[in-house]
Amino acid sequence: MSSINYSEKIPNNVNLSEDRTLQRALEQWQPNYLQWWGDMGPDGSQNFDVYLRTAVSVDPQGWAQFGHVKMPDYRWGIFLNPGEADRKIHFGDHKGEAAWQDVPGEHRANLRRIIVTQGDTEPASVEQQRHLGLTCPSQYDLRNLFQVNVEEGRHLWAMVYLLHKYFGRDGREEAEALLERRSGNEDNPRILQAFNEKTPDWLSFFMFTYFTDRDGKFQLCALAESSFDPLARTTKFMLTEEAHHMFVGESGVGRVISRTCAAMNELKTDNVNKLRAAGVIDLATIQRYINFHFSVTIDLFGADQSSNAAAFYSSGLKGRYEEGKRTDDHVLKGNTYKILDVVNGQLVEKDVPMLNALNEVLRDDYIKDSVGGVDRWNRLIEKAGIPFKLTVPHKAFHRSIGTLAGVKVAPDGRVVSEQEWNAKVDEWLPSSADRAYVASLMGRVVEPGKFANWIAPPVMGINRQPVDFDYVRFN
Ligand SMILES: [Fe+2]
Ligand SMILES: [Fe+2]
Repeated sequence: MSSINYSEKIPNNVNLSEDRTLQRALEQWQPNYLQWWGDMGPDGSQNFDVYLRTAVSVDPQGWAQFGHVKMPDYRWGIFLNPGEADRKIHFGDHKGEAAWQDVPGEHRANLRRIIVTQGDTEPASVEQQRHLGLTCPSQYDLRNLFQVNVEEGRHLWAMVYLLHKYFGRDGREEAEALLERRSGNEDNPRILQAFNEKTPDWLSFFMFTYFTDRDGKFQLCALAESSFDPLARTTKFMLTEEAHHMFVGESGVGRVISRTCAAMNELKTDNVNKLRAAGVIDLATIQRYINFHFSVTIDLFGADQSSNAAAFYSSGLKGRYEEGKRTDDHVLKGNTYKILDVVNGQLVEKDVPMLNALNEVLRDDYIKDSVGGVDRWNRLIEKAGIPFKLTVPHKAFHRSIGTLAGVKVAPDGRVVSEQEWNAKVDEWLPSSADRAYVASLMGRVVEPGKFANWIAPPVMGINRQPVDFDYVRFN
């Protein structure tokens, strides 16, 4: 079950050929997907041979095989982690009952919505990143971008499989609509706002893969607990792909920081203008990018109080992060949780029923996890002997969803007046001048082993290949 059949038109480990109707439906969707990839996938890249990894099995040891592939020929398919015999529902009102192998009628609409919302983010990020290849800082980075892109495409396949297999005609229509919405399109945008923002430059890309792909990790972890077993098994395999995306982000930002620190030491300066004249990205600008991407991403977890979140949990559709490792009753009926409220212009904590606060619970778990990489970035700065510390902003900063939407809060958590906000916003979020400066650095570096001036080379290559390996052949 765990090894993947590549001899079929759609690679899979779900015995697709045994279900002719499903196979035919997916084979009809496949050319539309390829058409979408041609229209909205990486710009001008169709003919490149890219050193990509492809899943060969879902075993942790051997899932990846590396080789040069043209992206339109990438073997997108359907890979589920093996099922657990007699898996039981382990949270919510159905705790202890057998996990569902099919969709219970009463949860159909909610499950479909969850799967569509997750599925929509996958092609959206490919669309957001489609022009970045034109300004890559190296072949190594270009290859990593393309790897992330093909795997987001694969994640779309993962969700479309569920829609086709379990949701009949509605599911097939949703699968078509996933190829029709477009990131940032006024008439037919992607569902979640962060996926309609631009990813205009590589610093944004690294921030996006660090912060926003990590949101993906947390959503997938919560769905990997689902009572709907096919969803749990699908998302578990997606998580193994997601880990690489976050690596690209963390190491990418780290390499930008390393290069900046080296320039600061060479020039013995922390003067922004001098550093910019030297063509590197000052740490204060990196901080503002962190502030932006962190705040936009934590909005993705939704309102701090949500009856939908409670219903999704109690009905067993979506668990908490690491549900299985927690020691409470996994029903949470009498429990409370602290969320933030604004009273007389001050942020105060208040207790609310935990079931209604599960978006906030997931957001707080996410925040703890995302701070880890920022600490590792700080170690690079410390090692360079530079007295500067990056932080994530307060969770009330720059929010547009839930109780905190529209409240003006500084990155340090002080509630500020409109006036102070307007006076300081360019110190807190990337200004148009910052963005223009970062954009001005984006050239195209593609000679093997060469790197743009604003970023340090990686410590090692991909799959133990040298850093100057030909990761992309341009033909
Ligand atoms: Fe994804
Ligand atoms: Fe991802």
